[in-house]
Amino acid sequence: MKFSSTSVTFGVAALLGSVCAHAAGINWSSVPGKEVVLFYPGQSSWEWALTPSEMSGGEDFRKGKDCATCHIGEEKDMGPQIVTGTPRVFKTGEKPSIEPTPIAGKPGAVNATVKVANDGTDLYVHLEFAAGNQPNANQNPADTRVTVMFNDGKVPEANRGGCWAACHDDSSGMASAGAATRTMYLPRTRAKLTRQGGGDTLADAAKLAELKSSGYQLEYWQAALNPGQAPKTDTQIVFDKRESAATNVVTAEATQQGGVWSVTLKRPLAASAPLSAISAGNTYYLAFALHAGHTAKRFHYVSYERSFSLDGKTDLVAARQ
Ligand code: HEC
Repeated sequence: MKFSSTSVTFGVAALLGSVCAHAAGINWSSVPGKEVVLFYPGQSSWEWALTPSEMSGGEDFRKGKDCATCHIGEEKDMGPQIVTGTPRVFKTGEKPSIEPTPIAGKPGAVNATVKVANDGTDLYVHLEFAAGNQPNANQNPADTRVTVMFNDGKVPEANRGGCWAACHDDSSGMASAGAATRTMYLPRTRAKLTRQGGGDTLADAAKLAELKSSGYQLEYWQAALNPGQAPKTDTQIVFDKRESAATNVVTAEATQQGGVWSVTLKRPLAASAPLSAISAGNTYYLAFALHAGHTAKRFHYVSYERSFSLDGKTDLVAARQ
């Protein structure tokens, strides 16, 4: 395992007392870790990625090849060339910058070790990462925010394209947004999508109701972290916009040692509707985002999606501990 500080971290957790007690049931040293590289995506929206003249895999994606199939393993090269805001260089030639307002000195990618487990009642998602030397962007009071995007398999665009399904060219801060404050939204909630995104015209009410009842939504579980403070959590739902769920079902614990954050998000397996129940025998998808250096909105690191289950042959398996 890359970061062997788990036992040290839990030693510290024990000293800090009950804030951290709830994960004591999971013996993380016996749970295999997966490396997930989070990279800086700049303004690479869903619409950008589906436009072959902008992203040459767009055509193959439309024909059925997933983003992750082409890109897992390349993230550590992608982020560093996007983050600088200069033209990007590929074997096939140069492509224009997709970051018009770079943050000077920002690292381009962050390696995380991800472990997942369940104890019969709750799901635990554990991330360890060193975000490196992060300039303070002064965009958000939280030093660091860790977000898990959960898809219960009912958002086909997210099954194949992870977070990009929710990230549009006209979402706040993106290339076609202008002054709009639009948050994340899912493609089918819009009457139509163009290269500039879906705008504010929603699909008709009957269509929206049908999408809702079919479970077409993403969950967003977030922990906002400041060193020495208890994490602040949030549970949100992404449908036609991103908004807080009626109940915040996510709790978290986090410690930071020697530049390494160790963060555990906890979420009940049996959350009630509109949140999904997570149960054995089903395949879900998880993707991760990291806002480091007091950043907000799109100035984050993201991962490609990983398949996930409690008991299946998926990338991440939250086995019963
Ligand atoms: C068939 C393979 C393939 C698929 C599928 C694919 N891509 Fe790409 N992607 C590429 C190639 C090749 C490049 C290099 C730049 C170019 O040729 O446009 C690239 C470049 C990128 C970049 C910029 C990387 C950099 O270093 O600047 C991003 C971001 C990206 N793709 C995201 C996506 C997303 C999101 C999806 C799914 C919606 C996706 N890609 C699907 C092949 C693919």
